Amino acid sequence: MNLPNMIEAKKRTKIPVKYNYYNIDKNDNFKGKKYFIRTYGCQMNVHDSEEIKALLESVGYQETLDMETSDLIILNTCAIRENAHDKVFGFLGRCKHLKKEKKDLIIALCGCMAQEEHVIDEILNKHKYIDIVFGTHNINELPNMLLEKINKTNINVYSKEGEVIEVGNLYKRDSKYSAWVNIMYGCDKFCTYCIVPYTRGKQRSRKSKDILKEIEELKNKGYKEITLLGQNVNAYGKDLENEITFSELLESVAKTNIERIRFVTSHPWDFTDEMIEIIAKYDNIMPYIHLPLQSGSNKILKLMGRRYTKEDYMNLFDKIKKQIKNVAVTTDIIVGFPNETEEDFNDTLEVVNYCKYDSAFTFIFSPRIGTPAAQMEDKTDLKVKEQRLQKLNELVNKYSLENNKKLLNTRQKVLLTEISTKDENKLCGYTETMKLVNVTCDKKLLGTIQLVKITDAKSFSLEGIIE
Ligand code: SAH
Ligand code: SF4
Ligand code: F3S
Repeated sequence: MNLPNMIEAKKRTKIPVKYNYYNIDKNDNFKGKKYFIRTYGCQMNVHDSEEIKALLESVGYQETLDMETSDLIILNTCAIRENAHDKVFGFLGRCKHLKKEKKDLIIALCGCMAQEEHVIDEILNKHKYIDIVFGTHNINELPNMLLEKINKTNINVYSKEGEVIEVGNLYKRDSKYSAWVNIMYGCDKFCTYCIVPYTRGKQRSRKSKDILKEIEELKNKGYKEITLLGQNVNAYGKDLENEITFSELLESVAKTNIERIRFVTSHPWDFTDEMIEIIAKYDNIMPYIHLPLQSGSNKILKLMGRRYTKEDYMNLFDKIKKQIKNVAVTTDIIVGFPNETEEDFNDTLEVVNYCKYDSAFTFIFSPRIGTPAAQMEDKTDLKVKEQRLQKLNELVNKYSLENNKKLLNTRQKVLLTEISTKDENKLCGYTETMKLVNVTCDKKLLGTIQLVKITDAKSFSLEGIIE
């Protein structure tokens, strides 16, 4: 078996190819067959699932939301923390049960977990009912794997070496109004706690001309919003010769005049003054920045390999707030990293008190096999870590609510993208600053940008009306 070696992954230079799969004909074997897909993890995985769906439908499969009647169940997995792993194996238990009743049901596992050696071992030893395993670089190989006669787990996770081949990708997008656009794959940062560089490989940027072409096409199809996607978007282009920078890319995208441009995730280390200027200059670049802090302690930041200090981060934050009008900033924070003391944790709280984030995703450190941080000695009790998380969450929620309350009785532009699942008379959408608003209005307004008066504010959402 040709599996990526976790340590070797760091040394690899040429990584994953994205293949064209248009050469796979519609196949009678797949006619009338139904697939069910469940996606875990980040936007990268959500977007990969859009590609998997398009690929399956291009060869004859149809999507079903009812797992019980499906012929193929796909789990697109995440490996970022231990609980992601537990959720998947919990769900697989249900699949195994279904397969007992329906012998020809095919169970496939893909995504980041499928790129982990120990998970493959676990599947081969304990979960033999899984038919197909494919990695984040092998999505295109799924139809062929489905065609092959299956009588044992078919594993195809290693990437073939070569250049990124760009032929125009096919997606079954979840939304008609807001679209993800990959600008790069993988990550080169190797933060010591993080599994992503091992599961998704080294950074590979797409060519800017291909990105712009995709955005023009989306605009022509009526998309109002695009989100440039990558683990480290502002390192865009650094892996290619003669390619433009992320700021230049942002400016070119702004000039397509698509109505709303977003981007996730930016790394503080790659955040330039030029980027701030461009965001401030164009109205169609949304004033919303997700800027992961991870920790406020310089000692911990160093152990994490984050490449900035608390002071660097706060300086950058000040520049962003000063130059971009009404900007909202959100973050990611890890508590309980190995060697984090009460003092280190207080440094994190200090930065939170300084930045007063619009919202934050907070996590307890989860050791990932194969990463340097998993080898570090960790003496802190889980109970202490949980207490820190709770304290942090209380602070974060307090600022979210305060920031949201400031919007009461103001008018905000909202792109209405969905009908509320809780109340049929409401549409949901996001403000320019990425705040979720439930709007009481006519359903005909779906897909439009409206000026909404904010009538109520909670920590995680707003309510609004159209006057
Ligand atoms: N590329 C992005 C985020 C990737 S993962 C960035 O660099 O910011 C999303 C978040 O998960 C991270 O920002 C981090 O806060 C969290 N995370 C990643 N690995 C983790 C781990 N081993 N334990 C706990 N949280 C982790
Ligand atoms: Fe992981 Fe760091 Fe890369 Fe983000 S920048 S994906 S945290 S290695
Ligand atoms: Fe998870 Fe992979 Fe995304 S590990 S967070 S699905 S890049």
